[in-house]
Amino acid sequence: MDAPGSDFDLVVQGNYAYTVARDPMNISRPTVYLDNASTSWPKPRRVIDEMVRFLAEEGGSPGRGGHRMAVGAERIVREVRVKLARLIHADDPNRIIHCFNGTDALNIALKGSLREGDHVVCTQLDHNSVSRPLEAMVARKFITLTRVPVGGDGCVDPDSIRGAITLETRLVTTVHASNVTGILQPVAEIGGVTRERELLFLVDAAQTAGVVDIDVEAMNIDLLAFPGHKSLLGPSGTGVLYVGKRAEIGPFREGGTGAESSNPMQPKELPTRLEAGTHNTVGLAGLNAALDGLNPTQALAHEGRFIERLIRGLEDSDKVRIFGDAPPSHRVGLLSLWIDGISPVDAAAILDETFGIAVRAGLHCAPHAHRALGTFPDGTNRVSPGWNTTEAEMDQLIAALREIAA
Ligand SMILES: Cc1ncc(COP(=O)(O)O)c(C=O)c1O
Repeated sequence: MDAPGSDFDLVVQGNYAYTVARDPMNISRPTVYLDNASTSWPKPRRVIDEMVRFLAEEGGSPGRGGHRMAVGAERIVREVRVKLARLIHADDPNRIIHCFNGTDALNIALKGSLREGDHVVCTQLDHNSVSRPLEAMVARKFITLTRVPVGGDGCVDPDSIRGAITLETRLVTTVHASNVTGILQPVAEIGGVTRERELLFLVDAAQTAGVVDIDVEAMNIDLLAFPGHKSLLGPSGTGVLYVGKRAEIGPFREGGTGAESSNPMQPKELPTRLEAGTHNTVGLAGLNAALDGLNPTQALAHEGRFIERLIRGLEDSDKVRIFGDAPPSHRVGLLSLWIDGISPVDAAAILDETFGIAVRAGLHCAPHAHRALGTFPDGTNRVSPGWNTTEAEMDQLIAALREIAA
């Protein structure tokens, strides 16, 4: 059993299945890439071209010197800030902090805003890039933490958040869309609860920035963290933190900023307060080009269509279980599934090696979300189409899943 054109043979022995390369020295399979929730691929041509152009022609260090190459790099760094501020309806581009990925942005937000003795409310859907910094602070008795459960509909109830708040609570955090089920969370309602109590509200928009309209003002968001390398279609090494006016956050790292060099301390102004060291200018040049062609509404509709196709294509199968089957208006373009009798890691390996299809297996760095789904510790297979996915590729996946399940 193997897919047409595959370089691998599928070997089944009892309950165990594995693949063997026919000619290990000559593997040339095409890849159907359905792991865009990890990082988007391919990047649009304009992104690659701009990164090459920047490296070849500009390449200076922003804010370091007045020569034209430094000024050119500074212009790009500033342009990205302006475009990102517009994207999330923020009125001050200086409150857009360039980071290196989503994790970096979340660490800057958490470590810069929490004080000893604070209480934090987080959720069962949180990614490890939120959970681990918080758990580390709990372990050294710096903060206390309440993790609010997720309901049967895959959503966190704003009333559960309200019920978890104590007199010591400084910050509430939630993911905007689960990176395991794709289900959107009631962020605006939770933002309303945090504003009632005058708390800081941190939102992890890793799976929504670039596909869902985010309005930091209307949603009462004080801190918004997201990578540039997922649905924004920028390169890896880019991430963003928006710091609202109510958020007083200290620097997570100190160092050179190219400004106020005689000051022994980190400058207080944003964005320099939180941006020590040379920027990822090549990455920002790519992100700048990526943002030019971005159409979040169109991207969400495009990916959502493929998720619907997948759900409908598998609904008559009693061997494949889908997690988080929510209406298209309540989700982003990713979905978790489970094939009866085969571990997600094995299923993903077979999809890759036999069918040339890339999906992500396991816990997706969100172990609490999998506990809530009942899929801990094996996790699920996560399918996440992107801007370049085609109907034919989705049908290839459906056929492959049916074949593996059989
Ligand atoms: C919900 C969520 N939060 C945070 C992150 C971390 O982002 P990054 O990989 O850019 O650090 C991810 C990445 O997978 C994610 O899905």
